[in-house]
Amino acid sequence: MKRSKINEVLKNGKINDRILVKAWVRAFRSNRFIQLNDGSCIQNLQAVIDFEKWEEASLKKITTASSISIEGVLVESQGAGQALELLVEKWELLGEAPVDEVQKTILQPKKHSLEFLREQAHLRFRTSTFSAVFRIRHGLAFAIHQFFNEKGFFYLHTPIITGSDAEGAGEMFHVTNFDLEAVPKNKEGKVCFEDDFFGKSVNLTVSGQLEAELGAFGLGQVYTFGPTFRAENSNTSRHLAEFWMIEPEVAFNDLNDNMDLAEEMLQYLCQYILDNYKEDLKFLHERDAQEQLSKPTNERNELGLIERLEFVTKNEFKRITYTEAIDVLMNSNHYKKKKFKYNVEWGTDLQSEHERYLVEKEYKKPVIITNYPVSFKAFYMRKDDNCTADRQTVAAMDILFPGIGEMVGGSQREERLDILKQKLKDFNIHEEELWWYLETRKFGTVPHAGFGLGFERMVMFVTGMTNIRDVIPFPRTPKNAEF
Ligand code: 4AD
Ligand code: MG
Repeated sequence: MKRSKINEVLKNGKINDRILVKAWVRAFRSNRFIQLNDGSCIQNLQAVIDFEKWEEASLKKITTASSISIEGVLVESQGAGQALELLVEKWELLGEAPVDEVQKTILQPKKHSLEFLREQAHLRFRTSTFSAVFRIRHGLAFAIHQFFNEKGFFYLHTPIITGSDAEGAGEMFHVTNFDLEAVPKNKEGKVCFEDDFFGKSVNLTVSGQLEAELGAFGLGQVYTFGPTFRAENSNTSRHLAEFWMIEPEVAFNDLNDNMDLAEEMLQYLCQYILDNYKEDLKFLHERDAQEQLSKPTNERNELGLIERLEFVTKNEFKRITYTEAIDVLMNSNHYKKKKFKYNVEWGTDLQSEHERYLVEKEYKKPVIITNYPVSFKAFYMRKDDNCTADRQTVAAMDILFPGIGEMVGGSQREERLDILKQKLKDFNIHEEELWWYLETRKFGTVPHAGFGLGFERMVMFVTGMTNIRDVIPFPRTPKNAEF
């Protein structure tokens, strides 16, 4: 007999259907009710076993976390909360789970702290919270491809090993096959990279953008969706050393087109999850509501998780320039009462307290901040045409989300070869390193723009999880690369 998945049984099963399910036992109550979950959905299927029909010793092996195969007939459920239950006719234990061992793990059915759950990342998939998070993570990845496919973009695979530091922040993991105990060095004590595997110094990519730009200069509109690595030593709830990024790049787009595309994409993704992951979302919504209760009243979210997603789909994002943002901050009561820890004036970078103020207090919606001072941003951003000598800005855009901070970073790119070359000089980047990038500006250069969406930050927003380590299956952070 062919195995049915529990989501299909709950959706299409009819009374008297004979079915076979294979699943893990979430709980076994009163020697009679077995809660089964096979990962296909958040709900369990309840199986009912007549304990008089089987030996007590064999029934004792049906424990929480064990795996089981059950054949039986669907009947109307006596209990509340489900329409159908499975009357057991044949069963076979597939894998035992010793009770005393289970008690030491997160598989024991009780509330565990997220820290404890994180230590057992290999078992997290068995919990309701994490299985819901990772189903939604899948849904978002799928929706991203669907969104770009519908718009006629091409998915471009950019390299993971590269010689460039696209963001110029120097936060790279080096890649080598040298024996680290005996790295060849020249007379001056410098590493002989010409003897290394690639004959040059290479690293794990911090962004696929520069290569995506080459793709856009022929294919018109492309996007990347791949792993990204940053050796940033910041142990925060929003940073990973290995994360996934989506980077569209579009020829002929300017900064406004870029904002429109990003806003449309973020709204599409929220709507997709609202439409297709209702049960998982409902569970996470309730989880989030419980968590809000444990916070001080002034830190609680006014909106529930589902309302937060609906809010994004129904409201336009606020768009302001960096210069306007500074004005708003300096005119705020918060500033006048000296409640900001960090200084606010034109020319200082916005700290997360300032971003949070703008998003959560001033506008209460996603905010796109544009046209930042040139020195805060990467070399490739387009110099603004109308800026004054003492206030030089670039066509950058950061999208800030409530509870998350920076969700998207992007810009219109510098397409003018002479200005780009000058920028490289100003940023101390050797032209030879990026000769191939500069070439694009020589042969039919065009205005173009793109952005990067941090995938895990999006999963955080959509699931209501507040630590980025809880939305990626196997987090990599400073001093942590277990599993
Ligand atoms: O703002 P970033 O550094 O922009 C770029 O890398 C550009 N090349 C993108 C582009 O224009 N094509 O990173 C983009 C986004 C951030 O807004 C943030 O959401 C996420 O990537 N991000 C991280 N997410 C998790 N952990 C980290 N360490 C992250 N660093 C950036
Ligand atoms: Mg950024």
